[in-house]
Amino acid sequence: MSVLNGKKVLLGVSGGIAAYKTASLVRLFIKAGAHVQVIMTPASKDFVTPLTLSTLSKNPVHSSFFNTDDENAVWNNHVDLALWADLMLIAPATANTLSKMVTGNSDNLLIATYLSAKCPVYFAPAMDLDMYKHPSSLQSFDSLKQFGNIMIPAENGELASGLSGEGRMAEPENIIAFLEADLESKLPLKGKKILITAGPTYEAIDPVRFIGNHSSGKMGFDIANEAAKLGAKVILIAGPTHFKVKNSSVEVVNVVSAQEMYDACHQHYNDVDVAIAAAAVADYKPKVVALQKIKKAADEFSIELEKTKDILASLGTIKKNQFLIGFALETQNEIENAKLKIQKKNLDLIVLNSLQDEGAGFKKETNKVTFIDKNFNIEPMELKSKEAVATDILRKVIEHFG
Ligand code: CTP
Repeated sequence: MSVLNGKKVLLGVSGGIAAYKTASLVRLFIKAGAHVQVIMTPASKDFVTPLTLSTLSKNPVHSSFFNTDDENAVWNNHVDLALWADLMLIAPATANTLSKMVTGNSDNLLIATYLSAKCPVYFAPAMDLDMYKHPSSLQSFDSLKQFGNIMIPAENGELASGLSGEGRMAEPENIIAFLEADLESKLPLKGKKILITAGPTYEAIDPVRFIGNHSSGKMGFDIANEAAKLGAKVILIAGPTHFKVKNSSVEVVNVVSAQEMYDACHQHYNDVDVAIAAAAVADYKPKVVALQKIKKAADEFSIELEKTKDILASLGTIKKNQFLIGFALETQNEIENAKLKIQKKNLDLIVLNSLQDEGAGFKKETNKVTFIDKNFNIEPMELKSKEAVATDILRKVIEHFG
């Protein structure tokens, strides 16, 4: 999944021949899952039509401070537009637009919006080779970079003038690749490896029956998807569940029993920076698994159970630098029991679920959790969607790495 997926992109188009390439650029943004709004300078409309860009971006194109098309003139609020965006890209950025960006000469909607933007701003210059090398252009590039804007350098090749050299706007595919690489490199969990357990485990009684529980696996899958979105390399050890990962970069290891989950966790644990145990692991399993289906005979029937291995506690015992997070599902003396689990399993953080809280627990879309860290700082959270709880948990991970 592209890092641009779900991102709000404001594309500023200024008046150069390369403006015709913005049709492909918008297409590529949309294909990557981004939401796109386009602002055009008046001059850019000579090179590409607003209708083309509004059709491709699925949004009206903005180009003047007022919409004067009808009697009820509407002000195009450049501040709202700027604040809407997760990133702004000015492409093509002509010498004229770049110098206006430097001096703050906001005589068009594009520059006014740029001046109001708080998001990262990228610019892709497009000009003839001598213009590109002119000291005033070089000064504009430097000033804009000093302001914190990011330049997507022009490419070498045939220019509209017939000359050949540096100055062509980077090709749309290369602009997208540049943005993706830049955004990915800045993700807060880039370079971190996270192990996550999710779902129930099934403990076989015989070839057709098992002991299981109602865990859907949603919480663990949401954490895995969110962690991958934040740039982490994720290994998800999943018990039986119908959930699929949304982010194809997540490595999924499917397991069935507590023993298989234990083995898979230990296979990967040494290499990870963080481990999050969200699985509802069976605490007991049948001592003997019948090789054949057990036939119905006596009126009463009992199965002898033995403890499974506590996966999280075993990870706590061999912990080196890993940031270790566990869950606690409690129905009474919640805080005290959770604190005991922190100590017993050598955790850095526990995510406490109380089944007394409405909206929390198994097979729900929502969760209400309380964070308790190893110093017993307690942070109760609101009832929220499991996705939002996943974001909160990963915020704790990001805070840990500073
Ligand atoms: N856990 C585990 N392996 C087990 C049992 C639990 O890794 N065999 C993990 C769970 O994934 C969770 C945490 O331990 O992160 C606590 O699980 P919970 O069921 O609340 O507690 P238990 O340790 O099983 O204790 P109890 O059931 O007595 O509350």
